[in-house]
Amino acid sequence: MRVVVAGSSGFIGTALVAALRRDGHEVGRLVRRPAAAPDEFGWDPARAQVPERALRGADAVVNLCGAGIGSRRWNGSYKQELRDSRITPTDVLAGAVAAAGVPTLINASGVSYYDGTGDRVVTETSPPGTGFLSTLCRDWENATQPAAAAGTRVVRLRSALVLSRHGGLLKMLEPLYSLGLGGRLGNGRQYMPWISLADEIGAILFALTHESVSGPVNTTGPAPVTNAEFTRALARIMHRPAALVVPSIALRAVVGEFADEAILHGPRAIPAALEQAGYEFQHRTIGQALTSVFQR
Ligand SMILES: NC(=O)c1ccc[n+]([C@@H]2O[C@H](COP(=O)([O-])OP(=O)(O)OC[C@H]3O[C@@H](n4cnc5c(N)ncnc54)[C@H](OP(=O)(O)O)[C@@H]3O)[C@@H](O)[C@H]2O)c1
Repeated sequence: MRVVVAGSSGFIGTALVAALRRDGHEVGRLVRRPAAAPDEFGWDPARAQVPERALRGADAVVNLCGAGIGSRRWNGSYKQELRDSRITPTDVLAGAVAAAGVPTLINASGVSYYDGTGDRVVTETSPPGTGFLSTLCRDWENATQPAAAAGTRVVRLRSALVLSRHGGLLKMLEPLYSLGLGGRLGNGRQYMPWISLADEIGAILFALTHESVSGPVNTTGPAPVTNAEFTRALARIMHRPAALVVPSIALRAVVGEFADEAILHGPRAIPAALEQAGYEFQHRTIGQALTSVFQR
């Protein structure tokens, strides 16, 4: 297959490009700077510019663009950047995919599409939430509409926290746990949906090659855990204590609105669509996922 990836320089994109190449696919990369390699195509999402030759003959486009959700404290302008860096590139790419007749678009979204729902199990048919991140995810997903309207198979990846030492939350937590400073966040009862990086990539490859996969797809491990369970599992794997409790009020003081949106609430989301389509997870439990992470 010829697969064109946007957001390829990021944590998931880098692993995806390597996996695609390993599997013998041809990869093109859309980069937001002048192209500097034969597989690169410069594009400018803010100006709606996608070179026509980038998508010519493509079997699929994978869009992983977006400014880091947790990389800065949110204020009005950063919240706008979080939206603009996802919705605009998606809208532009969906239009280009439609114009070029690309058969498949796989577009990032997040499990924050759903509100934190306590113990209630959430699948792809559950309704969207109403908070900032949920609204962002809903609008981000809706931006794929031009491609869907043109008959492209659109897969919307509602990804959970992707576990790897090389990126995401775990990269931030590892040094704290190493110092014995790990601990429960808030009351620890909130769900913390997760997926191993191997399964995130495995699910994207599966979606690329299985025509039956379409629409929203929760890329979450099959057994979501609460924050307290995650904390215990990480402490066990790292052989470190994690007896601290970070009170909700302290989290809110340090990270602001992000605390309630992404840390103190989370959906108990399960990968119903992937399991129904026959995807076989490499890591079904948090213990298996964390063991694989720390073996490397
Ligand atoms: N990692 C997770 O746990 C997780 C969980 C749920 C959802 N997601 C979503 O999955 C996608 C990929 O995640 P990731 O962890 O790989 O993210 P990442 O490492 O932050 O990479 C995202 C990529 O998006 C592009 N980008 C950054 N700022 C941008 C901007 N202002 N406008 C347009 N593009 C911009 C960059 O690629 P270029 O410089 O190559 O353009 C960057 O490498 C993101 O949309 C993220 O929200 C990730």
